[in-house]
Amino acid sequence: MIQSFRKPCVVANWKMQGSLQMLSALIGDLLQGSQTVEFNKMDVVLCPPFPYLQAVEKRIQSGPFRLGAQNAYCEYKGAFTGEVSPEMLVDVGCSYVIIGHSERRELFFETDALIARKFLAAYHVGLTPILCVGETLAEREHGKTFEVVQRQLAAVLTIASLSTLAGALIAYEPVWAIGTGLTATPEQAEAVHEYIRGWLAKQDAQIASQVRILYGGSVNAANASGLFAMPNIDGGLIGGASLKAQEFLSICQSVSVPTV
Ligand code: PGA
Repeated sequence: MIQSFRKPCVVANWKMQGSLQMLSALIGDLLQGSQTVEFNKMDVVLCPPFPYLQAVEKRIQSGPFRLGAQNAYCEYKGAFTGEVSPEMLVDVGCSYVIIGHSERRELFFETDALIARKFLAAYHVGLTPILCVGETLAEREHGKTFEVVQRQLAAVLTIASLSTLAGALIAYEPVWAIGTGLTATPEQAEAVHEYIRGWLAKQDAQIASQVRILYGGSVNAANASGLFAMPNIDGGLIGGASLKAQEFLSICQSVSVPTV
C-alpha cells in the first residue's frame, strides 16, 4: 500500500453543552495549557454550538485551535427556517464542519442521501467536512459493521468524486461507543479503519493513503494513546472528554506524530 504522510487531527465536539461563561472558561484553560502540546504537528479543531461560534472564534484567533461547526444544511440560502448554510459558517470563521454525526442520523432522521448533499455543499464552500460513519450495536452483533460503513461512504461517493474525500476527514464512530464509556478496543477500531482505507484503495490507492480517518466514541486521556498508536487511526473526534481542558489537552498529547 502507498504510504503518505497524514497530519494527525483531534476534534472537540462540544455538542449541545455549555454557556458563554462556561465555554469562555474552558477556552481560557485550553489556551493556558496549550504550551504542553506540539500543535504545529497536528490540527486541533473546536466545534462549539452555533450561537457560540463567533465568541469562540474571537478567543482562538491567534492561538493554535481551528474552528468547526457541528452541522450545516445542504443549501446556500433561502427559506429554510432554522437551518444554517455552509457559507454562513465560513463567514463566521469556521474551517471545518461535522457532517452526519450519528446523533443527527438517529435523532433528526438524517438519511445517507441528505448527508451526502450536506457533505458536498460544505466541501464546495471550502470547509473541511468531517464525515461520520459507524454501526449500531445491533448492526455489529449481526456482523454488518463493514457493510454499514461502506454504505454510508458509498452514499457520499454517488454524488461526490473520490478526490473530495482527500480534502475531507472521515470519523469512524461506532454508535455503541458514543457517550457510553464503552470504547472500541484499539484492535476493533483499527480493523474498521483498515477496512475503510482498503475499500477506498480499491478505487484509488493514492487518495486512500491520504485520507485522514479519526476514531470517535468514549475517547479519554487513558485510552487515547492506545487508539492513536494504530497505523490507520489518524486522530480522534472527542465528545465528553473535550469539555475538560486538561483531559482534552492530554488526549492531544497522545497523538503519535509520524516522522516523514
Ligand atoms: P463521546 O462522543 O466522546 O462523548 O463518546 C464522541 C462523539 O459523539 O463525537
